[in-house]
Amino acid sequence: MSSVTISLIKADVGSLCGHHIVHPKQIEVAQEFLEKAKVRGIVLDYYVFNCGDDLELLMTHEEGENSQRIHELAWNIFKEVTEKVSKPLKLYAAGQDLLKETFSGNVKGMGPGVAEIEIEERPSEPFVVFAADKTEPGAWNLPLYKIFADPSNTAGLVIDPNMHGGFSFRVMDVKKGKYVDLECPKEIYELVALIGTTGRYVIDRIYRSEDKLLAAVASTSRLSLIAGKYVGKDDPCMIVRAQHGLPAVGEILAPFGFPHLVAGWMRGSHNGPLIPVGLKDARCTFFDGPPRVVGLGFQLSNGKLVGLKGKEPADIFEDVAFDGARRKGMEIADYLRRHGEFMPARLGPEEMEYTTLPDVLKKLEERFAEEK
Ligand code: 13P
Ligand code: 13P
Ligand code: MG
Ligand code: MG
Repeated sequence: MSSVTISLIKADVGSLCGHHIVHPKQIEVAQEFLEKAKVRGIVLDYYVFNCGDDLELLMTHEEGENSQRIHELAWNIFKEVTEKVSKPLKLYAAGQDLLKETFSGNVKGMGPGVAEIEIEERPSEPFVVFAADKTEPGAWNLPLYKIFADPSNTAGLVIDPNMHGGFSFRVMDVKKGKYVDLECPKEIYELVALIGTTGRYVIDRIYRSEDKLLAAVASTSRLSLIAGKYVGKDDPCMIVRAQHGLPAVGEILAPFGFPHLVAGWMRGSHNGPLIPVGLKDARCTFFDGPPRVVGLGFQLSNGKLVGLKGKEPADIFEDVAFDGARRKGMEIADYLRRHGEFMPARLGPEEMEYTTLPDVLKKLEERFAEEK
């Protein structure tokens, strides 16, 4: 077959019990919509899931990246779920991430998060999709750096000659809407100089340098930068291809054994550990969190998603190997919360600019007197 595109498009269109979880009826309506699209030949295959209060539409098709047809389909699904389920059930923050009234060609910049990868399907095509809740796209920076640039994480960078050419990282400056491509290992220090600033420089995609094979793509939209105010966190997603000259699945998962700190917990205003969980635990509770990530593994076969028991993906973090990360994450969560509203548990002033905190500070403005 010709090239196939894997699109993962997500949005929070309202949820059960505050920002806790997507309602099963929302998933059902999205599935019905996508089944019709499959029968009409718009998509080859699909899988609907959630991470916390974010509804995730995984689709395969032959329309390429940034296809108006696919983006409009996703937009219409989010609208339909909002109108048919979120509003009648009065779910919390119905239609939260749909920041624009009408569709205008591409959902990027309209609220939903998008990760899309157009590929020539290899003889065997394993890939993992990740989705996180209560965080922002910069949450992927550290794991992606480890997976594709750190030989102490990815043995293949040392052992497999097919990876010795290194990987090229496309880094977005989300404030300016510009990007730069950096070749690793040659420019590894420049890469870290940028992506260490997780709120501004985020990894958009990664190529294998030698042949420009596209290996990973991530969603990079920042809702607050689109809306100009806090409307919910971006809650990013990404797609990572594995094996045969790319990092092995186990090398892709290994960084998530360390529950690193990410921004976006409670009211999008706090740092917290990103804990890896299975789908059954993809729901935020304690202080609206802690931030969570799910990882779903598939094989692609002629554009069709191959999983377990029919179409169920491998629910990769639902495993004892990640119990330690979850336990450590909860210890860190507890430690951070003991700081209350003091930095660095709460985010710095630049990020708080988009929340309701400036309104609180405004009230005090007139009362500030000159130092005597
Ligand atoms: P509310 O004012 O809607 O309770 O906002 C708090 C919150 O959950 C931010 O998204
Ligand atoms: P979401 O971005 O997941 O909707 O969370 C909003 C929030 O403020 C949770 O405390
Ligand atoms: Mg929400
Ligand atoms: Mg969310």
